Amino acid sequence: MAIYIASIDVLEPGMVVGRPIFGAGGIPLVTQGIPLSRALINAIRRQKIEQIYIKDDSDGPSETPQGLLSHELEREGRRKVEAIFSKAVEKMSISVKDIEVLSDLLSSVMAELSRGGSLTMGSLKAVADMDKVTFDHCWSVAVLSLALYREAIEDGWLPLGTFQDGINMGLGAVLHDIGKLKVPLEILNKPGMLNEKEWEEMRLHPWHGLELVRNQPNVMPMARGIIIHHHQRLDGKGYGPRSSENILSGDKIPKIVRLASVADVYDAIATDRPYRPGYLPWEVLRTMRKSLGDALDAKAFSLLERMVVPFPIGCFVLLKRGEVCMVTRSDGPWGRVLALMTPLKGRALGDIFSFGAEDVLLGGTTLQGLAWRVRREFFSVLGKDDKRLDPSGWSVLSDWKDRLLKAFGR
Ligand SMILES: [Fe+2]
Ligand SMILES: [Fe+2]
Repeated sequence: MAIYIASIDVLEPGMVVGRPIFGAGGIPLVTQGIPLSRALINAIRRQKIEQIYIKDDSDGPSETPQGLLSHELEREGRRKVEAIFSKAVEKMSISVKDIEVLSDLLSSVMAELSRGGSLTMGSLKAVADMDKVTFDHCWSVAVLSLALYREAIEDGWLPLGTFQDGINMGLGAVLHDIGKLKVPLEILNKPGMLNEKEWEEMRLHPWHGLELVRNQPNVMPMARGIIIHHHQRLDGKGYGPRSSENILSGDKIPKIVRLASVADVYDAIATDRPYRPGYLPWEVLRTMRKSLGDALDAKAFSLLERMVVPFPIGCFVLLKRGEVCMVTRSDGPWGRVLALMTPLKGRALGDIFSFGAEDVLLGGTTLQGLAWRVRREFFSVLGKDDKRLDPSGWSVLSDWKDRLLKAFGR
């Protein structure tokens, strides 16, 4: 039996749900083992869920994507963070009780992360067990920061801290962008580039964040440091503190903050935005690598690189030779990626083949995401009327050809 991720666009009646599906607020919608009907597919689509787990009886790949946490804790965490932050938006403040709830939640996260074995982040960012939540980013950055913290200690880069140090790290990470409560929504949700004035407003969010936790007895200096300094750069060109004298650079930036910045940047690039789909881990790493030494710490980045699976199961790639494929198996560290791919149906042996990172032209977490990328990248390089832009000429797996053509508006 195989369990794999399927984009909502390729679901068909008769496919069997591989894992429970949850709607907004964590409400269960469909239990596992239920065959999909047309009505059910439409209901899932209405929940704006992008991908679900499907199982079938084929003897295809049986791997399931691994996230950093169990599905249960992942769901509980997102739900709690969303509830607390929604309340904070309403009241423009965060209560002592909420900080306690967050601390409890983070200790469960630490307990799970401290289990033996290596940490891998092999699941796709866009996999939605529930509706997209507004404060997803804060939760994801907290979990990733704590995972990096564990790696840093194991590596000897950071000394072994107390359990409370971990909670403080997680609390700083989960609250790092809380100051955005005070940034006008039109600026936060603006699809394009910010103008100078808007940018100035945006740059105040670390400061607003520090103000919001000023009277919180349980938010320790370590957490406050992450809130105010998470946009510092190694070259000293970052922002955060009000006074320019307090801007940090190089080794003056605490290692804890450097780890949180790496987690923050990773999640920001990997996540869908209103104006663009999220990038594949492979591309996120490639982008981040360009700013090592100037903005990001190379050591903190190397710890992240160890955990990230560049082509997670369920993602889509366009190979240089023209095929569009879904990754159904992923293996090996960066640079030695072996992935086996198959079309969603059929699973005939002949349809499965392997590729290396060097064979990949572009990737996407969904087929639409990939089509968006292809369109954007190709238009900028080739110009609108170039023949090579016409996907009908590509040797695309037949199941997806029509969808790709549609995505290109042809
Ligand atoms: Fe920020
Ligand atoms: Fe952030």
